[in-house]
Amino acid sequence: MIPKHTIDEIFETVKIEEVVGDFITLKKRGVNLLGLCPFHNEKTPSFTVSPTKGIYKCFGCGEGGNSVSFLMDKEHYNYPEALKYLAKKYNIEVEEEEMTSEQTQIANEKDSLYILSTFANTFFIKSLWEKEEGQNIGLSYFRERGFNEEIIKKFELGYSPKNQSALYNATIKNSFSKEYFLKSGLGFKVSDKVIVDRFKDRVMFPIHSFSGRILGFGGRALNKNAKAKYQNSPESSIYNKSKVLYGIFFAKNQISKLDNCYIVEGYTDVIAMHQKGIENVVSASGTSLTTEQVKLISRFTKNITILFDGDSAGIKASFRGVDMILKEGMNVKVIPFPDKHDPDSFSKTLSSDDFKLFLKNNSKDFITYKTSILFSESEKDPMKRVEIIKEIIESIALIPDYLTRTEYCKICSKILDVKESVLLRDIDQNRKKGNSNIRNKGVEEKPNKETIVSKNSKIINSEKEIIRIIINYGNEELEFNNEKMTVGKFIIEELQADSISIQDKLYNLMFNKLEKIILADTEIKHNDFVNHENHEINKLTIDLISNEHVISDNWVKRHKIYTGVEKNNLKKTAEKAILSLKLQHIEFNIEAIQNKMKSGEITIDDISLLKNLIEIKKKIASKIGRGLS
Ligand code: CTP
Ligand code: MN
Repeated sequence: MIPKHTIDEIFETVKIEEVVGDFITLKKRGVNLLGLCPFHNEKTPSFTVSPTKGIYKCFGCGEGGNSVSFLMDKEHYNYPEALKYLAKKYNIEVEEEEMTSEQTQIANEKDSLYILSTFANTFFIKSLWEKEEGQNIGLSYFRERGFNEEIIKKFELGYSPKNQSALYNATIKNSFSKEYFLKSGLGFKVSDKVIVDRFKDRVMFPIHSFSGRILGFGGRALNKNAKAKYQNSPESSIYNKSKVLYGIFFAKNQISKLDNCYIVEGYTDVIAMHQKGIENVVSASGTSLTTEQVKLISRFTKNITILFDGDSAGIKASFRGVDMILKEGMNVKVIPFPDKHDPDSFSKTLSSDDFKLFLKNNSKDFITYKTSILFSESEKDPMKRVEIIKEIIESIALIPDYLTRTEYCKICSKILDVKESVLLRDIDQNRKKGNSNIRNKGVEEKPNKETIVSKNSKIINSEKEIIRIIINYGNEELEFNNEKMTVGKFIIEELQADSISIQDKLYNLMFNKLEKIILADTEIKHNDFVNHENHEINKLTIDLISNEHVISDNWVKRHKIYTGVEKNNLKKTAEKAILSLKLQHIEFNIEAIQNKMKSGEITIDDISLLKNLIEIKKKIASKIGRGLS
């Protein structure tokens, strides 16, 4: 662990323009520097570096961050790696910190589990290659499936014997503790005395971390009567499923080199593709992809190609999941496979060259593909058409990059036969309406409660404005209700008075941090947030403190005007933000009661509450309308 004071020293020492300057050419422009953005293709520079703020922001693609996030995004470093790089550049000594006893315990548990997993892996490999049972059952199974020796060895495939405690007995014999065996999920208790192996009678697929350590296993049943085709290691302190991708260790170099990552459904698909010479491939192991997994990939490439198994129901079901990938700013392509085939089975029907050719010729842009698939089904039904156009618009609206969105509008306007300008306008509206909602939109989200969703997004937008005001002006002292207090305190008290809490997870986290600082009467330092180790916090902060007026090349000129205006009207701005948020909450409650009414569950109390709420709503609305005098 890098100690806090070293991290602080690093942040105090680094100069963003020097860090970025090592990778791209920057030219001075007013107080800022300007260059060609390394995160998207551009011919005229819109990548702005602000030495005073220690941040960069691209006004073309929206990327922004500090020195550390620059290295993470550009060079694919993780957080400690980026810090170490900077320490080295500026000759800062990094002494790793001693851990507390609790930390030692966790570290010990992790170390032990790593050692145990490695032991188990070796045990399974030996059982496959050196034992008669493994050779007869496991090895011959892999061979029948067409896996060659080289590939079996590369992926460290193994065999777990039929004897229900073979692995457990071996671990005890090698002085591993029962406790860690159970914690690793390699087996479980069936009675006080008996512990059995989770994977008995299965062929084994070890799951490697990004750096090649064994985190867990998938075991495939050979017996048709087995309860489940696959058994997988449960989560543990070393295995967090949502963060791991099967095959990433073997794929990462090629992903980076070929600037594309194939995503398949299963272990066997990954292996079969490798055997065909395609190594930039990973699998989410049968579940839908998580944001964290996409972020992991985005360290190597912005391009994802999803290989769909050949059944159209499955393909349509996965459209929603893909939206999350778009939202992360990735370019998504898809390759639908022939009916009844997955990449593993289909690859076996072709030579390596033909398979590569198949991938090349059948790769389709996701949005275009989705549009034509949905559209082809609805050509005759105008109602359905409207639905589909809406859905496509929602997908495009998720894409962070403006130019990409525009490009898609062109393509889709042709397929859907809708004017480009109409699509663009709707996409714009969709983004405005749901800007923060976009971030919150999980894969699981059910879109049918549309009114609630858009109400919610209004609340969240108001919350964002509140946070923006606090972080920029929270320490400013003004007179509210004939009393001098800081903007921050005013907002906190107003929210408390009406028991309003911040709903959005990230904003809530930010708000709590800001609240602590304000209640302690200390200064809000942007640097603490910009350099926060939580990536989401530093991205949000940069977004909130670097609006275009403040940081763009006309910085000096516009800065004075803009902040001048906002500061002069600060009181009104703060009051308006608070009232808007209150208004959103009241409208939300009114709607809830009205919905109750529709279903006939209303009580007398509800009716008087409703009256009250409507009264308050009127008052607030007119106050906002009158310009809050
Ligand atoms: N999976 C799982 N548990 C199951 C079934 C599937 O964890 N009961 C996961 C596995 O990671 C599997 C992936 O989902 O690799 C895809 O499932 P499927 O297509 O059914 O399996 P294949 O990988 O194609 O395996 P095989 O070819 O051996 O049938
Ligand atoms: Mn298969």
